[in-house]
Amino acid sequence: MSKGYFQHGGVTFPGLLYTPRGLEAAREFPVEDDDVFNVTYQKSGTVWMLEILSLIRSDGDPQWCQSVPNWDRGPWLETVLGLPRARGNPRPRLISSHLPVQLFPRAFFTSKAKVIYTVRNPKDVLVSLYHFARIFRPYRDPGSLEQFLEKFLEGDVPFGSWFEHVRGWLQLRGRENFFCISYEELQQDLRGSVQRLCAFLGRALSAAALDAVVANASFAAMSRNRMSNFSLSPLFILDLRRGPFLRKGISGDWKNHLTPEQSDRFDRVYRERVAGLGVTFPGTPPPRPPPPSTPPPGPPSPPADPGAVPGGGPTLKGGV
Ligand code: A3P
Repeated sequence: MSKGYFQHGGVTFPGLLYTPRGLEAAREFPVEDDDVFNVTYQKSGTVWMLEILSLIRSDGDPQWCQSVPNWDRGPWLETVLGLPRARGNPRPRLISSHLPVQLFPRAFFTSKAKVIYTVRNPKDVLVSLYHFARIFRPYRDPGSLEQFLEKFLEGDVPFGSWFEHVRGWLQLRGRENFFCISYEELQQDLRGSVQRLCAFLGRALSAAALDAVVANASFAAMSRNRMSNFSLSPLFILDLRRGPFLRKGISGDWKNHLTPEQSDRFDRVYRERVAGLGVTFPGTPPPRPPPPSTPPPGPPSPPADPGAVPGGGPTLKGGV
């Protein structure tokens, strides 16, 4: 990797906003049983989920979302600024993270704290990350999409490989305190998704509160909200003159960016890498089935219908 990046636990991090010490401290973070972690591979809908969780916490009242920046409401645990904020926030805390599971706070695994893991079609993640890398100052300029595609497929990007991140986190399916949902499910049925999140969180919201969550977590509402659209972010971190953080907010934008050859190239890697994961997304091929005599790699395999997994959320078909 280039100058300005460092490796920690085999994963790449940018030098600005992240330090090895901070990452070690994140690993030893004192987790409370009522913590709710908003975990994603970057560009999978982190701030969207953060808005939804903030609104659920406020019974749909947008006042908190409209008066406190999202990075203070649900600070990113692994950043130098987010860690102290996460420690100091009043309970019950909302905490965001892009950490791969092997670098996540150890204490989580013996706690009752909850993780919500949002996964997104990786072709859309690639395109979103490509644009983000052009505005997020800690990241290197991505070069051409052709070049960046190769780096993404190799995992030679901050936070490492999408494939490994998702594989690692999905090992937790079946745990009561783990809930997995896709960006595409949020797109298809936001209200139903909020209801399922409420059930997982043990929150009963009235119909009016549910409506308010849905209305205030829309792409349009978030794009207008200065506490959620990153317009308060300093220029040395985010250069919004080059493009908005809330860019398009749609599923399938990869079709507007990847050539058929690039899409095929992606599919070839994808088929190999997602075998046994139990996730499919529109526009990506079904994973190559493992050979009959070999058990699928990784954790105990999920049941045929991942929708039946407690805490696992519905089948991760990705919709749309
Ligand atoms: P695009 O770049 O495809 O527009 P993250 O928060 O993990 O960095 O993810 C950012 C992506 O989520 C961006 O995708 C952004 O537009 C999208 N997003 C954020 N809020 C959204 C919302 N309310 N509805 C739909 N997409 C949203």
